[in-house]
Amino acid sequence: MTTDQRFPVARFNSEPTPFYYYDLALLDRTLEEIRNASAYPGYHVHYAMKANANPAVLSRISAAGFGADTVSGGEIEAALRNGFPASGIVFAGVGKTDAEIELGLRAGISCFNVESAAELEVIEQIARRLGVKAPVALRVNPEVDAHTHHYITTGLAENKFGIAMTMLPAMIEKATSSDSLTFRGLHFHIGSQITDQAPFGLLCDRINALQDEYNARGIHFDTINVGGGLGIDYENPDSHPVPDFRSYFDTFHRRLRLRPGQQLHFELGRAVVAQCGSLITRVIYVKDGVARKFAIVDAGMSDLIRPALYEAHHKIENLTGHGPEEKYDVVGPICESSDVFGTDELLPRVERGDLFAIRSAGAYGEVMASRYNLRRLPATVVSQ
Ligand code: LLP
Repeated sequence: MTTDQRFPVARFNSEPTPFYYYDLALLDRTLEEIRNASAYPGYHVHYAMKANANPAVLSRISAAGFGADTVSGGEIEAALRNGFPASGIVFAGVGKTDAEIELGLRAGISCFNVESAAELEVIEQIARRLGVKAPVALRVNPEVDAHTHHYITTGLAENKFGIAMTMLPAMIEKATSSDSLTFRGLHFHIGSQITDQAPFGLLCDRINALQDEYNARGIHFDTINVGGGLGIDYENPDSHPVPDFRSYFDTFHRRLRLRPGQQLHFELGRAVVAQCGSLITRVIYVKDGVARKFAIVDAGMSDLIRPALYEAHHKIENLTGHGPEEKYDVVGPICESSDVFGTDELLPRVERGDLFAIRSAGAYGEVMASRYNLRRLPATVVSQ
């Protein structure tokens, strides 16, 4: 595949950089693959909006029939604005404010994923005041090690997320006995950028054991929500433009024993949108250091913070270079030494004005951009 088939470089030349480019045809292919791979009874995917809330992306995902996993009032509003029905919206997060809870209840969202006893208490009070019943699921900490970066590991005891197993019985009792709450089931999430199926298999084993234990006590769950976390190939985006959704959903199909009529919910974020997005940036200067060459680009950590924050590496391509390959450190213009996209990147000889694509940036890219150094937020360009 040549560069020109993947990217409309001529069009890029007439756009001010930096900007996020979204390949909506690839997004559509990805959504189609998710739909096919998850076509088991009771399976529902809620797209984790925190990964990318660009309206063009959101409206494509809602049109494909997916629900939305939200973590703030702003995300609930954006979901509703971009075509997700309230009945397809779930709301998670450890710090839901009273105003956000009220917004969710008034909109009629389908579930609050509750993370503490204190939060359950407040949701109950607000629902009672509004004269409605709040649908709730309890987020359980399953203590499965996802072997991912410590900043994005969430399923191990003890951290701010979820409810410890020991505290679960009292909270189920509260959720099932209150006439202002409707108990829906359990919610789990073990971490993000998980490329090995084993942790998901272990999660299934934990859920099986938990269900056996609670069913024996006469407690049943209508819904099991296994969160998100499926990873993508950052090093070879063109070899794996669509993540391996078959293996992922098959793991749950083989390992998780659902009860008759039970719903299984997924909250995939990164795997849905990462590969369809690239950050397109222009080389401002090529700087010859003593022992290194720097390609200084016009995008920085304010546009894509993942390398600086998680030591993540995104594949970098010189879309306009033709000469022999040389090694460059690709750096942004921001006054921080962590504003580096890559060191010793082997690229066709770089010249001032070249266009680079920083790949696999559709997830946790644009949405995490900031105005640090009073830079403009990155623009977006969408494939026709
Ligand atoms: N559900 C819950 C409860 C979550 O906390 C998350 C992500 C997801 C679903 C979606 O996970 P995904 O399928 O995208 O892995 N900014 C970081 C990732 C933070 C993930 C936070 N939670 C990054 O750039 O790697």
